[in-house]
Amino acid sequence: MKGYKILIVEDDQKMNQGLLHVISKEGYDAQAVDSGEKALEKIKNTQFDLVISDFKLPGINGMELLKATKRHDVNILFIIITAYGTVDTAVSAMKKGAEDYILKPFDMEELRVVVKKTMEKRELFLSNLRLQHQLQKKYTFENIIGTSEAMMTVFKIINNIKDSKATVLINGETGTGKELVARAIHFNSDKASKPYLPVNCAALNENLLASELFGHVKGAFTGAVSDKRGLFEAANGGTIFLDEIGDIGTGLQQTFLRALENGEIQPVGSFERKKVWVRILAATNKNLEAMVEQGSFRKDLYYRLNVVIIDLPPLRKRKGDIGILAHHFLKQYSAQNNKNIKRISQEVLRLLENYDWPGNIRELENIIERATLFEVSNEITKNSLPPVLTMPPLVSGIEPFSKDIKSLEQLSKKHIINVLDMTGNNKTQASKLLGIDRSTLWRIMNRLKMN
Ligand SMILES: Nc1ncnc2c1ncn2[C@@H]1O[C@H](COP(=O)(O)OP(=O)(O)OP(=O)(O)O)[C@@H](O)[C@H]1O
Ligand SMILES: [Mg+2]
Repeated sequence: MKGYKILIVEDDQKMNQGLLHVISKEGYDAQAVDSGEKALEKIKNTQFDLVISDFKLPGINGMELLKATKRHDVNILFIIITAYGTVDTAVSAMKKGAEDYILKPFDMEELRVVVKKTMEKRELFLSNLRLQHQLQKKYTFENIIGTSEAMMTVFKIINNIKDSKATVLINGETGTGKELVARAIHFNSDKASKPYLPVNCAALNENLLASELFGHVKGAFTGAVSDKRGLFEAANGGTIFLDEIGDIGTGLQQTFLRALENGEIQPVGSFERKKVWVRILAATNKNLEAMVEQGSFRKDLYYRLNVVIIDLPPLRKRKGDIGILAHHFLKQYSAQNNKNIKRISQEVLRLLENYDWPGNIRELENIIERATLFEVSNEITKNSLPPVLTMPPLVSGIEPFSKDIKSLEQLSKKHIINVLDMTGNNKTQASKLLGIDRSTLWRIMNRLKMN
């Protein structure tokens, strides 16, 4: 609490000095002036956290000073001191943004309590601000890793559209970074100080989702015991991220369209329409275009959503990024787990590059996190990788079900031939992959007349 700057404005000399003494003694960095004009002069040159002002002053009064202070910086806190019997002055000061008031006559203990309470509020505000800065830092583009051409295109689009009001549709398989991109857009935009509210459209049924998004009025349905504000209202001026947009039902799609087209929302069970402004970012791993063709997604809504499209490529289509992503996660998890692993072996990098990554970057992140925990040496080796990576892709070696193969015997034969091909006819390695020992492999091969 120490170190906060407080300005005292009081024309009564004795009172002025008394306040200065008490506030300074509490450890605050306090200054005192005897008029509103002088106070304004000071406020312009010094960043104060709090102004404590008497209402009755010789020139501009406390209320005018309050207004001018808030105009200069709405975050400077203000306490007004006013005579007993003028409570309405105090109330109207609170309405104009004062944090608190003190009625004269008061004792210094009362003053101390009010100031302390107000400064706690300031502390909270500042720590929120710090948190917000941290969040912003977390979602700057530096955290979206990738140097492939596909990712360069993504960065370029984000940069071009971040401040616009355009709706953005983010397409990509699971784990490709859709949410990461949505946050990057918001936290790098001019709306960064406004709310960013993500909603998972797949997690709620249509009715609940409608009430979550647009709010409801008391009695709209069983369980609606009071009015509830929806996310569209809560996010006013900021961003709503509609995750898994492909999962919303056709009824809600219509409501959505109206909200997007004229910024009008209607709480469930209400006749009243409200105007809101929010920026919409939507994401899906479904092919909305195909859904439009099948009739399960409204065409007009689709065109509303895809003003800007960001296609996030699956990891297997940008294998050149695997190395830097892996090192990025290694750095992160190594630090997080107090490990001193700085490198990834060449063999591991090759295995990572040869894998197909159905779970995309999330899967890579998980594998590197796991490896960081399991690794005992100072570089990531094959030993700390899970079997999916270290076992050759057996399954993909088998062709899809073939009509020519009917019996298990035929299938075994084909499978053994595949595995032998894969290992360059090395029977020891082949038997290991097949999960049997070498002599069993020989026996089976004899029985199937494969020699
Ligand atoms: N380019 C990237 N650079 C660094 N980390 C990334 C990148 N892309 C994704 N990640 C990380 O991978 C994980 C999954 O990303 P995210 O949750 O954004 O994926 P998603 O596309 O929303 O997946 P889902 O469809 O399953 O919800 C997150 O931990 C995210 O930080
Ligand atoms: Mg997601």
